[in-house]
Amino acid sequence: MTLVALNNMLRGAKEKKFAVGQFNINNLEFTQAIIEAAAEERSPVIFGVSEGALKYMGLEFTVALAKTAADNYAIPVALHLDHGSSFNVVLECIRAGFSSVMFDGSHHPLAENIALTKKIVEVAHIMGVSVEGELGTIGGTEDDLSVTEEDAAFAKPEEAVRFWEETRVDALALAVGTAHGVYKGEPRIRFDIIAEVAGKIEAPIVLHGGSGVPDESIRKAISHGVGKVNVNTENQIASTETIRKILAAKPDLIDPRKYLGPGRDAIKDVVKTKIRLFGSHNQA
Ligand code: 13P
Repeated sequence: MTLVALNNMLRGAKEKKFAVGQFNINNLEFTQAIIEAAAEERSPVIFGVSEGALKYMGLEFTVALAKTAADNYAIPVALHLDHGSSFNVVLECIRAGFSSVMFDGSHHPLAENIALTKKIVEVAHIMGVSVEGELGTIGGTEDDLSVTEEDAAFAKPEEAVRFWEETRVDALALAVGTAHGVYKGEPRIRFDIIAEVAGKIEAPIVLHGGSGVPDESIRKAISHGVGKVNVNTENQIASTETIRKILAAKPDLIDPRKYLGPGRDAIKDVVKTKIRLFGSHNQA
């Protein structure tokens, strides 16, 4: 299939109470592992690309990888910019072939976040591209983005409803207690915020920082209106730990396929498990 917009893919997720996984890609092996896992599970899937990953892989390589994956498998695939920081980077990605973009204006005052996101939604929708917005401040570290626990702030439900009504984003990321990266303790998720906002807006809610969240909390979040869950760190840990073990056991190994391949298999296992947890298997 060709790359599809997020709104096509997420339509029905909220009512049917499943979520589509966004799995971030960092290289060829991540891309292959994620598409193979999704195809075997007959699940729609979203390739997330952070600005850091974009710098690492290059815009053209990124789009080529995602398009090749989508063209070769009969499941819906979206290529989605993760935490786009400016109008320019969002437009560059749309022009290059992304089917979906996130604009993260959450560090701006509400009115400014609304104005900037609205402008992006207008342009993106003309191009058939979906938009995810963000409200509240999600803690943790992703690439160069770092938010301390003290600076993390929950989204306010009344602001979230106003944000959606004025911007009409296709998906809305809310800060509800999850964080990017590895958790020190168990995350305490504000399911009440998810439920209140989900009941008042059409768009599905996005849960960032999906790694390390207990399965029961993920199921509960989805049952309250989360339609997209983002996962990156667990895939990074699985592949790196696998590669580290192989290299430690075989210090003379020099063929990269001999360790990158098993690293890829480890990512595939994580993605398959998450897809089943999110309930998006057999939904393609
Ligand atoms: P984790 O790395 O914590 O899974 O979060 C991923 C994410 O939210 C990407 O936006």
